[in-house]
Amino acid sequence: MTRIETIEAYEILDSRGNPTVRVSVELDDGTFAGASVPSGASTGTREAVELRDGDVTRYGGKGVLKAVAAVNEVIAPQLGGCDPSHQREIDELMLNLDGTPTKGKLGANAILGVSMAVARAAAYSMRLPLYTYLGGLASTRLPMPMMNVLNGGKHADNNIDFQEFMIVPVGAPTFAEALRYGAETFHSLAKLLKAKGYSTAVGDEGGFAPHLESNEEACELIVKAIEEAGFRPGRDVAIALDPAASSFFTKDGYVLSRSGMGNKSSDELIDLFDRWLDLYPIVSLEDCLDENDWSGFSSMTAELGGRVQIVGDDIFVTNPDLIRRGVEEGAANAVLIKLNQIGTVTETIQAIDICRSAGWRYVISHRSGETEDSFIADFAVAMGGGQIKAGSVCRSERIAKYNRLLEIEMELGASAVLQCALKPL
Ligand code: PGA
Ligand code: ZN
Repeated sequence: MTRIETIEAYEILDSRGNPTVRVSVELDDGTFAGASVPSGASTGTREAVELRDGDVTRYGGKGVLKAVAAVNEVIAPQLGGCDPSHQREIDELMLNLDGTPTKGKLGANAILGVSMAVARAAAYSMRLPLYTYLGGLASTRLPMPMMNVLNGGKHADNNIDFQEFMIVPVGAPTFAEALRYGAETFHSLAKLLKAKGYSTAVGDEGGFAPHLESNEEACELIVKAIEEAGFRPGRDVAIALDPAASSFFTKDGYVLSRSGMGNKSSDELIDLFDRWLDLYPIVSLEDCLDENDWSGFSSMTAELGGRVQIVGDDIFVTNPDLIRRGVEEGAANAVLIKLNQIGTVTETIQAIDICRSAGWRYVISHRSGETEDSFIADFAVAMGGGQIKAGSVCRSERIAKYNRLLEIEMELGASAVLQCALKPL
């Protein structure tokens, strides 16, 4: 039987130049594998704890040497000698070592780094691609990409309140074609922005971050970009939004101050998106309300859930208990899945299982702070949910995921399917 020989963590940088954790695992058969942990900006308050040093003399307090030490000094000595294919036991052992409900002692960034690196090492040792190891031989479903082409909110310094305006190539026959539809639309959007004298500098996830007249103009420009790239809006390429509403929710309600739209109540925001569904080819709406606005989420799902995918991100934070509550309350019909919100591969799979039993959809997602690690590409194919959100069609930390999916599609050959969970309009 193969056993874990060494586990070693170290500090690397993410796509924003902030420290994050990378973990290397070596097995006694000579297999060597690593994994890097991403980091969010518009984080949900109930996410598992990302341990940062708080030492202002290093990286403004954002160092992760404590999390690195947790791996090297606490986790590694316990996992030496374990069978790397016993993922659930290994993850449980780390949860017990941490002993807190939030993973605040060792850090979710320490625990997840080990969890992912162990999975990858086990796969390599069995000479299986990671997606086959995690999902089995039936893992042939490529995810439909949601590509974030216009950035606002916490991901950009512009006047757009809503964080993400994404394109979804719903009419594409293969993943490679979906990526081409996306890239061509992205370049057509660049031309449009330039022609209007807007900036084509990009935000954290590689989408453009111009100062626009309004939030509406973002949707209008995207529709135009889709047309000018030669695609049919809604049929070939649709729109998905993630306003990340927790980031503009205050005691005065939803404050759309950047764009000058004023303050809105939950009901007014639902009405706004109801109108937008008539105006624009929108197939998915994520975090349109605050993470604590459970009743708003339920009303929104009751009113719009039959017409559009309603995704919960900050409200559920990939937490099985919160997703269960969401299912009971009809608070959405889909969940955004981020490994580092919950902190282990096993619990992430449990969260997905709850979605599956409830008939909910799930979207595997990157974070705004990413690395070149393409773990989520394999994970999305393994989980078979048919959707991935991995940023725009530029910046290599985003493209790494898309390029890995191209490679998987090629490897799967004729058995690969891009089965779109989101129906073209
Ligand atoms: P984050 O943003 O990684 O900054 O949290 C992504 C999202 O809100 O979906
Ligand atoms: Zn989100």
